[in-house]
Amino acid sequence: MTEEKVKSRREFLRGLGIASAVVIAIGVFFRNVLAYLYPPAKEKTYHKYLVAKVDEIPVGKAKEMTLSNQPIFVVHLEEGYKVFSGVCTHLGCIVRWEEQKGRFYCPCHQGIFDKTGVVTGGPPPRPLDEFEVKVDKKLVFIKTEDKMEGPWT
Ligand code: FES
Repeated sequence: MTEEKVKSRREFLRGLGIASAVVIAIGVFFRNVLAYLYPPAKEKTYHKYLVAKVDEIPVGKAKEMTLSNQPIFVVHLEEGYKVFSGVCTHLGCIVRWEEQKGRFYCPCHQGIFDKTGVVTGGPPPRPLDEFEVKVDKKLVFIKTEDKMEGPWT
């Protein structure tokens, strides 16, 4: 093999190595850019909280309690249990359960929600936030997503 051919072969291999390194670097760069722009979705995690025993609250009544320093209401309806945030969806005042009328009332601006949390009067723009309820072995649980804020934010 002539010295010219050996030199040409070395240059070819060096060029191939440099081209490969450049292609890999560009690929890694774009992969990182895409990972930054479209981060993988985090899997949601949930917590389950015990809020009542099945026979603890008579039908038509509600129990007020706090969860993460926020009021919640566990309401026992004919069709089962419902659990609502006690934070009004208007400007965040605390609602109260009016047992005689079977509704929630917000004293700040006379917001009214029926027993299923639906707005029936006043300025609230949407229903009370509701938790997913699960009854298991005569215990009533709610399921909340783990996140820094409360489920009503
Ligand atoms: S904050 Fe409840 S009605 Fe305005």
